[in-house]
Amino acid sequence: MKRKSVFICVEGLDGCGKTTQTKLLVERLKKKGYDAIYTAEPSRGEIGSFIKKYCLHGGTRVSSIVEALLFAADRFEHVEKEVIPALNEGKLVVSDRYVYSSLAYQGAAGLDLKWIEKINEHAIRPDLAVFIDVEPETVIQRLKPKKSVMENLGTQRKVREVYVKFVEKGELVKIDGNNSKQEVADNILTVVLGFLEKTV
Ligand SMILES: Nc1ncnc2c1ncn2[C@@H]1O[C@H](COP(=O)(O)OP(=O)(O)OP(=O)(O)O)[C@@H](O)[C@H]1O
Ligand SMILES: [Mg+2]
Repeated sequence: MKRKSVFICVEGLDGCGKTTQTKLLVERLKKKGYDAIYTAEPSRGEIGSFIKKYCLHGGTRVSSIVEALLFAADRFEHVEKEVIPALNEGKLVVSDRYVYSSLAYQGAAGLDLKWIEKINEHAIRPDLAVFIDVEPETVIQRLKPKKSVMENLGTQRKVREVYVKFVEKGELVKIDGNNSKQEVADNILTVVLGFLEKTV
């Protein structure tokens, strides 16, 4: 088993294929001999469960400040209880959403990105952040019936604009998510293996 403490996150709009691709990536990395694990946000913890019920599936959207604070609190628990312990065991951790989701969703809702960064400063930086890019119109089609309060065209368009800014800044690596699941998985694996080969 190859020991590599590496933290990767997979980002993108609702329904772009994050869960599908994060799980496929972990399977494929395991086949290549890496001790990879899947994790996700909102986390499995109490705050994560509360967010799913209160913020995402409550019918109406709560204040974006409340959302940002709850997601930041959940993230810190996720990092402290799941990510860091796994990295300390030499695992390669792949997270289905991370801090860029807060920047994109609450940033799209009008909050200052600097403030969102500030309340997330305790969250460790990912070594590699992948953005699966799919048009907002496509994800809305894929997500019928609707699962959360975020799943409308206006929100998804604004969220994508913030993600694209981070791609332009070089913080997110963009992968075309319009291809078949296998092609998207191949492209993500190529980027990840390229990154792993460059790191110790
Ligand atoms: N490349 C693809 N082409 C077509 N459909 C896809 C592709 N990738 C995923 N899907 C389908 O789109 C839907 C959403 O995929 P998935 O649940 O992986 O997205 P997600 O980004 O995790 O969504 P959410 O943000 O809601 O958790 C699923 O029905 C999945 O099978
Ligand atoms: Mg998902």
